[in-house]
Amino acid sequence: MSILIAINGWDPSPWIVRLRALLPGREIVTLETLGDRAAVDYVLSWRHPSGALADLPNLKAIFSLGAGVDHLFEDPLLPPAPIVRVVDPDLRDRMSEWVVLHVLLHHRQQRLYDRQQQQQIWDEDGGQPAAGEVRVGILGLGELGLDAARKLSIIGFDVAGWSRREKRAPGVRCFHGADGLDAMLTRTDILVALLPLTVETRGILNARLFTKLARDGRLGGAILLNAGRGGLHVEADIVEALDSGALKAASLDVFETEPLPADSPLWRHPGVTISPHNAAISTPDAVARYIAGQIEAFERGEGLANVIDRERGY
Ligand code: NDP
Ligand code: OXD
Repeated sequence: MSILIAINGWDPSPWIVRLRALLPGREIVTLETLGDRAAVDYVLSWRHPSGALADLPNLKAIFSLGAGVDHLFEDPLLPPAPIVRVVDPDLRDRMSEWVVLHVLLHHRQQRLYDRQQQQQIWDEDGGQPAAGEVRVGILGLGELGLDAARKLSIIGFDVAGWSRREKRAPGVRCFHGADGLDAMLTRTDILVALLPLTVETRGILNARLFTKLARDGRLGGAILLNAGRGGLHVEADIVEALDSGALKAASLDVFETEPLPADSPLWRHPGVTISPHNAAISTPDAVARYIAGQIEAFERGEGLANVIDRERGY
């Protein structure tokens, strides 16, 4: 019985140490130390090399080491075992911090005051709208989107959200489906993308969508926040929209190519605020505990939680 840690670009040792402590007696192997492929029961993956999980005849589950699972579908030889994603209060709280930080950054015009400080300019710039006068629209009302919506609505923002299926959430105007998307966009000053990357959502944040955002808001233009996945947006369209005024500003945590290439115009664009895909990192402590708990429950016959739907892709 062994657990295979199949990761690309990360040091596996924090996971090995923690899993050995949490699940004593199990063999924890990496792609480099893997011997008997038939002994592997479980895989923990983050961007594993394509084909690396083929031919594991006794595989019972694949655990994504993140909330997103799109990285797994890059492997055409992904085995058919159930895929479990991370659902963790620590990760959720971190994402809501990022969303609240960036909504407030734009709402309170902090980037303008940063520039003014550089030049020692004291200009109050006409004051600030109340949070209740600013309409935030969240794409994705799942584990992360719903929590961010709740926290923004506690601050007082006028919050709406969009999901695939119909939803109800206190303090949040809920929209769903293709028709619901346009209805939400037209009443959105700050758009927050917390969608998974799937066949349906790839490229959704494009020039056509940006033109549907509200133009009459108190912030003087529409603002985009994306912490979902870089594949949700079209970077050339973001730059063009910022230059044309279709977008006033953007905060981006995720990119089409990561790390963001040195020649990307996003680095230097005055309308763009960048963080390096760390809006909500999965800490080995929390995630190893979560996975060990899932394996123990599964082996007691309780079944796996947070298994994704392969058809939907999330
Ligand atoms: P969930 O699966 O819990 O929620 C996804 C939400 O998106 C659901 O509300 C779902 O609708 C909605 N959705 C999916 N497809 C569509 C569609 N075609 N049309 C409309 N709505 C759709 O995911 P999480 O909230 O846990 O995570 C979201 C994403 O955040 C992850 O997939 C990952 O890519 C990203 N992420 C980024 C991190 C970072 O550090 N930047 C960290 C962690 C996650 P419905 O409710 O109807 O199913
Ligand atoms: C995740 C991520 O999906 O870190 O958890 O992006």
